[in-house]
Amino acid sequence: MKKAVIAARFPFPLEVKKGETVQWCACGLSQNQPWCDGSHRGTDFVPVTITARRDQIVFFCGCKHSKRGEICDGSHARLERS
Ligand code: FES
Ligand code: FES
Repeated sequence: MKKAVIAARFPFPLEVKKGETVQWCACGLSQNQPWCDGSHRGTDFVPVTITARRDQIVFFCGCKHSKRGEICDGSHARLERS
């Protein structure tokens, strides 16, 4: 598995609290999007660990093709249909 699976063609707007640590799924295989559930095991992917610097709403990428990693950059709108 070289390319991440498109888990969703939209971002997940979620609130994170200052100091909270989350693990964003980079592979797209997790059944608990956008978070890692360990399903990446056996692939070349690892989750991205983020610790929030402040309370905020983050638009976590669901398509796994953002150029900004865990942050949606709008790339989901340009993905080919398959
Ligand atoms: Fe996707 Fe862990 S399940 S990175
Ligand atoms: Fe991945 Fe927007 S959901 S770039």
